[in-house]
Amino acid sequence: MNAGPTTAATDFPATASRRRILARTRLDFWLDALLLVAYTLAYSLGFTGIATHEWLGIGLGALLLVHLTLHWDWVIRTTRKLLRRGGRDRFVWLVNLLLLLSMTLCIASGILISEVALPELGITLRASSFWRQMHGTTATLTLILVPIHAALDWRWIVGVARRFAAWRPGRSR
Ligand code: HEM
Repeated sequence: MNAGPTTAATDFPATASRRRILARTRLDFWLDALLLVAYTLAYSLGFTGIATHEWLGIGLGALLLVHLTLHWDWVIRTTRKLLRRGGRDRFVWLVNLLLLLSMTLCIASGILISEVALPELGITLRASSFWRQMHGTTATLTLILVPIHAALDWRWIVGVARRFAAWRPGRSR
């Protein structure tokens, strides 16, 4: 955006911060979309085969860490607010916490029963039926929680997707 000579001095910081917010919204949106695609593929073991499944699952763990880091301020803010408020915020917080726990357990138990990725790295563990069962259970629990998690943020997803659909190169929105 060009700042002409008549532009007020305060316009530049406002535009810069708007751009920063926009760039951040884009990053959040595409990272969330990537997480959803990676998760759907990870769940489709019969389609990907075991080797892709395992490496994809490990990659998903790394993406999950980035996602959590980007939304850490939300975690802190909402946890603080919960002490004072209830209702929807409390429900969203609970769903997110459950999802985080089940996905972390799913990835951790997957690593503990790994048949390809860990042996390729020279690590062999004795697979126990406990972790195998934990992997199946947490994968199912995650499958239930992911759509609820997305549905709770549905307005944000549709709003951002609409703005992207209407976006033209060279025009800032
Ligand atoms: C969020 C990520 C993941 C999801 C959603 C997921 C999902 C699944 C599902 C649905 C199954 C079939 C369970 C059953 O038949 O009872 C499975 C099996 C399995 N997963 Fe994962 N998984 C994930 C991550 C991982 C990771 C990171 C690893 C290892 C590095 C892994 C290794 C395995 C293995 C070894 C099996 C057993 C395959 C077999 O029964 O032959 N998974 N996973």
